[in-house]
Amino acid sequence: MANTKSIHGEWSSRFAYILAATGSAVGLGNIWKFPYITGENGGGAFVIVYLGCVLAIGIPIMIAETMMGRRGRQSPINTLTTLSAESKANKNWHFLGWMGVIAGVLILSYYSVIAGWAIAYVFKAVFGGFSSDAAIVKASFDGLISSPGQLVLWHTAFMIATMSVVMRGVRSGLERAVQFLMPTLFALLLILVAYAMTTGSFYFQGLTFLFSPDFSEIDSDAVLTAMGHAFFTLGLGMGAIMVYGSYLPHGVSIVKTSLYIAGADTLVALLAGIAIFPLVFANGLEPGSGPGLIFQTLPIAFGSMAGGWLFGILFFVLLVFAALTSSISLVEPLVAWMVENKGYTRVKASVMSGIFIWLLGVSVAFSFNIWSDFTIFGKTIFDFLDYLTANLMLPIGGFCIAVFAGWIMMQKYVKNELSMPEDQYTIWKFLVSYVAPASVFLVFLHVVGVV
Ligand code: TRP
Repeated sequence: MANTKSIHGEWSSRFAYILAATGSAVGLGNIWKFPYITGENGGGAFVIVYLGCVLAIGIPIMIAETMMGRRGRQSPINTLTTLSAESKANKNWHFLGWMGVIAGVLILSYYSVIAGWAIAYVFKAVFGGFSSDAAIVKASFDGLISSPGQLVLWHTAFMIATMSVVMRGVRSGLERAVQFLMPTLFALLLILVAYAMTTGSFYFQGLTFLFSPDFSEIDSDAVLTAMGHAFFTLGLGMGAIMVYGSYLPHGVSIVKTSLYIAGADTLVALLAGIAIFPLVFANGLEPGSGPGLIFQTLPIAFGSMAGGWLFGILFFVLLVFAALTSSISLVEPLVAWMVENKGYTRVKASVMSGIFIWLLGVSVAFSFNIWSDFTIFGKTIFDFLDYLTANLMLPIGGFCIAVFAGWIMMQKYVKNELSMPEDQYTIWKFLVSYVAPASVFLVFLHVVGVV
């Protein structure tokens, strides 16, 4: 089976793959989540742990996951079956594919609700809802999340958008959606950074918060969050990049493309932080105000700057698209599996998974208002799903992927697929076999209090 083509099609070029995979990586994780969890976890030290995790754990695992996808050429579940048979390993490895599918479904159920907030903000921007007054901006955000009807409406809109792209398949659907969005989003972030610089001393206060580490600020849970976020933001640990890798033509360097994708992803996150924290301090807001952070800060910038309404509209439109190019990768493993094993058409598979995820998402939408008192392990449905997936399932998935690539797969197949220079291979092999799994393991031990 290895080395053939995927039945679902292939990316038309190396560039198309880079766009799609960068699209999967860059999303709400960078612009919405990174700033607010950095704010909640005290800033600089958290950022350093996160960057360390991207380098030592994220990039090696990204290479491993993509490599496995390209060799298996199917949905992650079937890819793992094929690869473990090829290397004469236990066939239970395909359960790793299942865990990924479940993680993707759970993540998308809340991802879509937050992306819905961004859609709502497009309309707020259009109808002049942004203001230079922080109190008005906050009231407007509180109004949105306390309305179950609005949250469900926008969540529904986002799910429909996601499933209609997925329905169209690899080339016409996934590829086209990303061509223009990424560069424009990047340009707008630069505009926001430029605006943040006009906040004078607050600009430096923002930078200090982001980049000067105070390690007394972080505990084991913060380290876990930073590590989990490295997986989340790169889109690793659940088979998303594995399934994208399965559409990757031969001859494209997995190492180079992975470095490029991780670099772009990190840059976008840091720019978002550089744009947001000066605004937080300039307006006397709390860095740790949680998931609403960007929705309570950026509208102030747009409400104050010249031409802000236009930039505001553009920014939130692009944020929605960035979310869309990520969300499609979250269901692609499930849809690909349904097509392969159930014989469904792509359309049928997309509609069925979409409806299921939508339903879950409705409960997430309610967890911000009418169900906010309902908790699981002391967390609302949203907080619980976020913790379960980003902090637990993705690192566990990533750990297993590292072990599979480093210890289970026969090295001749790995080498054949990666075709990288011997010295680079040695470095990667060391990182993926030892450093990445040991780091994940240590962080877990630390959280449960063993070390
Ligand atoms: N990386 C995306 C973001 O930062 C979210 C995402 C897309 C993701 N695909 C994924 C997260 C796969 C985990 C696994 O917004």
